[in-house]
Amino acid sequence: MRDLLPSAVAVAVAEPDDWTGHLYATEAAGLGDRAVTRRRRDFTAGRVCARRAMTLLGLPPVAVPAAADRSPIWPPGTVGTITHTLDYCAAAVARSSEVRSVGMDAEQHKELSPGVRRMICLPEEVERCERLPSGISWPAVVFSAKETVYKIWHPLVGTWLDFHDAFVELDPEGGTFTARIASARLDAAPVGDPPARISGRFVVEASLVRTAAALLPP
Ligand SMILES: CC(C)(COP(=O)(O)OP(=O)(O)OC[C@H]1O[C@@H](n2cnc3c(N)ncnc32)[C@H](O)[C@@H]1OP(=O)(O)O)[C@@H](O)C(=O)NCCC(=O)NCCS
Repeated sequence: MRDLLPSAVAVAVAEPDDWTGHLYATEAAGLGDRAVTRRRRDFTAGRVCARRAMTLLGLPPVAVPAAADRSPIWPPGTVGTITHTLDYCAAAVARSSEVRSVGMDAEQHKELSPGVRRMICLPEEVERCERLPSGISWPAVVFSAKETVYKIWHPLVGTWLDFHDAFVELDPEGGTFTARIASARLDAAPVGDPPARISGRFVVEASLVRTAAALLPP
């Protein structure tokens, strides 16, 4: 993810020991006693990576509890994001004086079923994907970009965004995407200056799609 984000954002990608690393009590409380092994490993790797990213920024590595809606509670003065899928996990942290909000997402690189594709993509996005070079599941890239967009939007604005509330355009040569947020969601935003456009970068590998974006202060 390092290559996808500006230098103000510190990124840590999980190493093998991170999946069984240390959790603070406030973090473990959010996980609950009944979390299955897989969930515990993902959650733990995310927290360990988050602390490593804080250290890279020169900040003390502190707990990142989960809110009731499962969003991470970053320490004051910071913004951050976590993603995990299969054996991949990464976290990113930045100072809120330098970055308004940051998001990233990793997904398996695979074809989406027609039903899932319809749920994620607007008809025009599907048409555009069909015109892009073959060999890549472009709807999976749109899916990942939308999850990244949500991880930027929600901490900043506090409201839900449906998959059809963003229109994502991909530039396969530049490895970039731009999401335009539906005007109804912008009008309904309870905060001033909600982001109307969110631009980021993507990388497609054999088994993984990764997307990331950072919203910088005006
Ligand atoms: C929250 C969501 C984006 C997570 O994405 P995912 O692909 O399922 O899972 P990932 O592993 O990439 O990310 C999970 C991490 O996201 C973070 N997260 C969860 N809710 C979040 C929120 N509201 N805001 C920001 N980050 C959030 C958490 O750190 C979580 O990991 P953790 O539980 O171990 O702490 C997804 O589950 C979701 O609810 N999507 C629907 C909303 C959406 O994407 N709309 C599209 C708008 S265009």
